[in-house]
Amino acid sequence: MQDTEKVKQMLLSRIAESETPREVLKAPELKQLYGSIKDLPPEQRGDFGKKVNELKVAVEKAVDDKEAELENSSVEPIDTTAPWDVNGKPLELLPADNGSRHPLTKEIETIADIFTRMGFGVIESRQIDDDYHMFESLNFPDNHPARDGYDTFRTEENFIAPAHTSTMQNRILKANKSNLDENGYIGVVAIGRCFRNEDLDATHEHTFHQFEGVFVSKKATLAEMLGTLRSFFEVYYSQKLKIKTQPSYFPFVEPGLEFTIEKPAALGGKSSSGEGEWLEMLGCGMIHPNVLKDAGIDPTQYRGFAWGGGIERLIMLKYGIEDIRHFESGKLAFLREFA
Ligand code: DAH
Repeated sequence: MQDTEKVKQMLLSRIAESETPREVLKAPELKQLYGSIKDLPPEQRGDFGKKVNELKVAVEKAVDDKEAELENSSVEPIDTTAPWDVNGKPLELLPADNGSRHPLTKEIETIADIFTRMGFGVIESRQIDDDYHMFESLNFPDNHPARDGYDTFRTEENFIAPAHTSTMQNRILKANKSNLDENGYIGVVAIGRCFRNEDLDATHEHTFHQFEGVFVSKKATLAEMLGTLRSFFEVYYSQKLKIKTQPSYFPFVEPGLEFTIEKPAALGGKSSSGEGEWLEMLGCGMIHPNVLKDAGIDPTQYRGFAWGGGIERLIMLKYGIEDIRHFESGKLAFLREFA
């Protein structure tokens, strides 16, 4: 009878040194061991067979382990997304607690939170769109001069980087039509990036953000819209506000209005009595019947209101920021003010 322990130690050390450990499983010593079982007297076979089997398990495991070790050491860790050579000397990175969320991110969360608490659903708007959603579904007739009011960026395939979040109106209406039957209303706010190809200055930036509200029910009214907007602004600026509207033209609403607030004293407005400075905060109005019709909603049954306005402008007033270009500048001094 052979000494299984001796054979085992020999095979294990061979495996440890081998570059092709699986070959060791074909060792003649192993074959011999297997073969010798049948030559033993029957009463010894059980015991010996068990030992051989234990040896086999141990050797196979050693092969697996060695293979895994070889594999790991032969593959160089390459992270193609890393901005530095991961095989090189580790960089001294800034600790994560030095970072902070961008002011836009924080304020968008606040805005979304206010509307959510009022019962609106909140979604993110798209960043690439088409002519239908940018114009047609919003009742801009073909070749209508109002189209020129939006300095859009277009791709060669004629896709559009949305110049306003109103591109979401048709989608909101279509996607939530069943809500009209089930709950009697649609109430959604879309928030996201917009782009305009215009000259940049302290109040104009090519990339900015808007928030768009859409509400539809059997008897939505302009008064409800003004109440909703006033509540939103009063919560956002944490104070009572004076509001005013003036007529304006947007093809997708009738009537169309500009919603203005009087600059509050706490935010740099006039503190004495008398008329202060009126700030235009957004465009709004009652949704045009053609817009409802285009989304498959019967305008003789349902009415709605919508609004859309710039988010940077809201934030600038809240914190006294003088230049809209700060938001996209990545300037640390600016970002640290909000950390
Ligand atoms: N989309 C318009 C703009 O960016 C703003 C606007 C006006 C949105 C009236 C609306 C609305 O939803 O009803 O110029």
